[in-house]
Amino acid sequence: MTATAATPTLRQMERTETLPASDAGIARAAELLREGRLVAFPTETVYGLGGDARNDQAVARIFDAKGRPRFNPLIVHLPDLAAAEGYARFDDRALELARRFWPGPLTLVLPLRAQAGLSPLVTAGLETVALRVPAHPLARALLAAFGGPVAAPSANPSGRVSPTRAAHVLAGLAGRIAAVVDGGPCAVGVESTILSLDGPPRLLRPGGVPAEVLEAALGVPLTHGPVEAGQRPSAPGQLASHYAPAAAVRLNARGAETGEILVGFGPVHGDFTLSASGDPVEAAANLFHILREADRLAGPGGRIAFAPIPDEGLGRAINDRLRRAAAPRG
Ligand code: TXA
Ligand code: MG
Repeated sequence: MTATAATPTLRQMERTETLPASDAGIARAAELLREGRLVAFPTETVYGLGGDARNDQAVARIFDAKGRPRFNPLIVHLPDLAAAEGYARFDDRALELARRFWPGPLTLVLPLRAQAGLSPLVTAGLETVALRVPAHPLARALLAAFGGPVAAPSANPSGRVSPTRAAHVLAGLAGRIAAVVDGGPCAVGVESTILSLDGPPRLLRPGGVPAEVLEAALGVPLTHGPVEAGQRPSAPGQLASHYAPAAAVRLNARGAETGEILVGFGPVHGDFTLSASGDPVEAAANLFHILREADRLAGPGGRIAFAPIPDEGLGRAINDRLRRAAAPRG
């Protein structure tokens, strides 16, 4: 009998629990998050699709469930400013805004504390992190019960409108997530305002807190920046920590050429493997760690080759990231 190539893993459909807005419902939601599973929950803006922001697999599952074609960075939700200070560095401006607008529909992009233990998938390998303290009582109860950082994009399939009711969440994601906490309709209905304070204040997305209100609070006009965080030009010397490997990257490699570090997937074995079983969720969870490790092993002027990843489902986001790593850099 001949060995069969690893077939792409078919997504396991799961029964999605609808949890009540009660202590028991919140306790169950927190338990699921601790298991690394996904729970949609109401915030005052829209429903979020939550997963443990420290757990690589949980964060990879968020991208998988939404069918996102790219690893754009996610907002990390926290119960209060004190918890948020564990994950990012707050300067005086950030402290002022946090004290005035949290809890509420304001997300701050701040310098990441790299050793704080967030999955690199949450920040897409950036040195900044988006933090938000939501005001919705159920979101607050869930964050308190869970006791850790929750990564949560809006709880809709990629490219569809954001959900403001549990029924909207189920219409898009039933069978792909463990549970939704039903808290009725969201009050604000538009996403949080995203403000970068990694440098001069920059509005990355208009939202629940008007830009003029932030300008008045800061006493300076906001610049309006690109929403695509990954496009921020990185200062020289920062490349390694952005996980843009210093090594040259070759894609779709069936084997290593002389001097190359090979990163395998499925049947292609290497010095590392993104997933020996060819599981795209596992591969996504490993991606940023392996980019960094392979780069370290390759050394200055080194070369890394990646085995082919099927370009479907989460594989598309993985390939998008690898193509960027392989693109010529100026
Ligand atoms: O109201 C909201 O903010 C909702 C609820 C669930 O909290 N969440 C939400 O998340 O809208 P999402 O993933 O749909 O939008 C996150 C946005 C993305 O446009 C992303 O590029 C940006 O935040 N973002 C996240 N981290 C960033 C970073 N480090 N730098 C710049 N932009 C960042
Ligand atoms: Mg969204």
